[in-house]
Amino acid sequence: MARLSSFFLLASYVSVALSVSVTDIQGITYQSPLNGQTVHNLTGLVTAKASNGFYIAGLADNKDAGGKKKKVKVDVRASNGLFVYSTSAPVLASVNVGDAISLSGHVTEFRPASTPNNLFMTELEYPANITVLSSNNTVTPIILGKDRSPPTQLLSSLDVGRDAHLSVPNNRTRIEEVNPTLQPDKYGMDFWESLEGQLVTIPNPTATSFQSSYSEFWVYGDWKVTGKNSRGGLSITFGRDGKPDGNPEAIFIGAPLDKTKNPKTAVGMGFADITGVVVYQYGFFYVLPLTAPQVISTPDPTIPAVSFKTNPNDACAVTFGDYNVENMAPTSKHIPSVAAHIGNLLKTPDIMFIQEIQDNSGTKNDGTVDANVTLTTLINAIAAVSNVTYQYASVNPVDGQDGGVPGGNIRTAYLYNPDKLSLVGNAPAGGSLDPVQVTGSFLRPQLNFNPARIDPLNPAWDSSRKPLVAHWQTKKGQDLFTVNVHLASKGGSSSTQGDARPPVNSPIEARTAQVTAVAGFVKAVLAKNPLANIIVAGDFNEYIQTRSVYAPITSLLADIDEVAKIPEVERYSYVFDQNSQQLDHVLISKALQHRKVNFEHIHVNNWSPTLAARISDHDPSVGQVRLC
Ligand SMILES: *[C@@H]1O[C@H](CO)[C@@H](O)[C@H](O)[C@H]1NC(C)=O
Ligand SMILES: *[C@@H]1O[C@H](CO)[C@@H](O)[C@H](O)[C@H]1NC(C)=O
Ligand SMILES: *[C@@H]1O[C@H](CO)[C@@H](O)[C@H](O)[C@H]1NC(C)=O
Ligand SMILES: *[C@@H]1O[C@H](CO)[C@@H](O)[C@H](O)[C@H]1NC(C)=O
Ligand SMILES: *[C@@H]1O[C@H](CO)[C@@H](O)[C@H](O)[C@H]1NC(C)=O
Ligand SMILES: *[C@@H]1O[C@H](CO)[C@@H](O)[C@H](O)[C@H]1NC(C)=O
Repeated sequence: MARLSSFFLLASYVSVALSVSVTDIQGITYQSPLNGQTVHNLTGLVTAKASNGFYIAGLADNKDAGGKKKKVKVDVRASNGLFVYSTSAPVLASVNVGDAISLSGHVTEFRPASTPNNLFMTELEYPANITVLSSNNTVTPIILGKDRSPPTQLLSSLDVGRDAHLSVPNNRTRIEEVNPTLQPDKYGMDFWESLEGQLVTIPNPTATSFQSSYSEFWVYGDWKVTGKNSRGGLSITFGRDGKPDGNPEAIFIGAPLDKTKNPKTAVGMGFADITGVVVYQYGFFYVLPLTAPQVISTPDPTIPAVSFKTNPNDACAVTFGDYNVENMAPTSKHIPSVAAHIGNLLKTPDIMFIQEIQDNSGTKNDGTVDANVTLTTLINAIAAVSNVTYQYASVNPVDGQDGGVPGGNIRTAYLYNPDKLSLVGNAPAGGSLDPVQVTGSFLRPQLNFNPARIDPLNPAWDSSRKPLVAHWQTKKGQDLFTVNVHLASKGGSSSTQGDARPPVNSPIEARTAQVTAVAGFVKAVLAKNPLANIIVAGDFNEYIQTRSVYAPITSLLADIDEVAKIPEVERYSYVFDQNSQQLDHVLISKALQHRKVNFEHIHVNNWSPTLAARISDHDPSVGQVRLC
């Protein structure tokens, strides 16, 4: 840097033609090697205009810059695009797309002070001396998937650890401080950074998300992708090297440059080719399209129901469903829809593991903790669409202590079909603060309270739902232990394409401690009966690929998706950013693994044709195990 500065100092005294190109400005690292410098006589072809500036492609080594014959070996690490920032109307009026221009300006790394976890974007500020050298040159975008293709697995070279971007400890380094040399063939963020400011075409795009609240959405184009599921979304999976695959081959589509409005999207929707410029903003790499993308296909709206159902004549087989019903209060408008899902698509499993039941007063913060009205309303709605009248089992939280929406006192609860199962009746229901204990004799584990919560005073559960344990029996006396979990949510995590590496996964320490507490209960049951029937299910708020969180329990229980051999790409219950991902899991004990197991994800929400029509942010699932 010192050498460069003195060079420029010299240049300002001595009248030599300083030839700086766009690629010189972008360099081969995140930060521009010319950051803070004023450059003169920069040449470029105007590729796109915005309301706050315009984009240029370097002429010198740009084969697309009409007329220029000069062949230079292209270093793909250095972007040949640049955003020229200006809100001056005369400046904006002085250039047109297709103009070859020369200009001077100030090289800046821009990031809003309010978002210190974003990456910087390299820009040219204070453009001056803009001279149009020629007009109406052909502007040729880089065709992604043909000229350049994104890597498909890893995000950043700084994501060190066994679980790549999901590794612990996280938040160890910052990209903009380390300023690594770009490896665009290997790391997705480096790939998009190496195209910063360039005009690109995304051929044949497919959406992997609903639109965001700012009408942005994620796509991949006609290039190699990994994790593609049957809907067309991209699931988080493990790569061939055993590390998590975070799908950096998808790109966020931002607001169109011409101020037209993006369409509303859904996972699997297809579009005509999108052409736009690559930028970094709001924590992610984006393509800002020149104009609003055109929808050309929408996925099949049919949601298949579960293919198996409870068999009243088979006392051994128990069906169960798992559903985060997203902030359900007695007055919630979505109760009939959730009931229809449970009745018609899940086919009224014998037990439902439900999460996010609010107290009787909903979000009114009035000290109410009972949820009998909420649960009864849901039960009545299910009875109206099926012949099943469930009973419920639940333990109230202490007011305001279990996190979630203020005043809601969300909790987990069971609905169960009394024709099939009952709570083992020789223990009273636990209170909010009564820790469950495993009692009973060898091969006959019992609970001190039923249902009951696990270790409610353990600080791991501060501001989080305590898991709900229950001990069930069938009419023939077969028994089953269940744990219904809703672990601490990912609120407070940083962008997966942010400055902190590995990204902040909040609060991963709490989730790991919570899984440890659940594992402690499971161990206590298995210590009494190694062949106990145990199901732990619910919203873990964590991917299975974050192995450190599941480590305390993986030797005790198996992931039912594995046991039932669900294809890895079809394991998802949630869509966030570009990813179809699994936050909701079912883990089962060895005794159950060795008998017949069925399991299906019912994608009624993530396959919703619109975001507005989605009933919950989570998909439910249905399983069937044999107790004997
Ligand atoms: C810019 O280019 C013009 C014309 O080629 C030349 O006269 C001038 O010296 C150059 N300025 C710098 C700072 O390089
Ligand atoms: C603009 O060009 C003039 C004439 O070549 C030169 O004197 C001046 O320094 C240039 N300004 C900038 C900001 O480059
Ligand atoms: C560029 O093309 C447009 C439309 O084809 C034409 O009106 C205009 O005169 C051309 N400009 C130049 C400088 O050739
Ligand atoms: C991440 O680390 C930075 C220091 O590099 C610190 O300021 C920030 O609070 C950390 N974020 C979290 C969520 O721990
Ligand atoms: C809810 O519980 C309260 C208090 O026990 C009781 O008065 C009320 O009838 C219950 N409501 C329903 C719908 O079960
Ligand atoms: C309820 O049971 C009746 C009588 O067995 C039967 O005709 C009807 O189809 C059932 N309805 C549903 C929704 O299962």
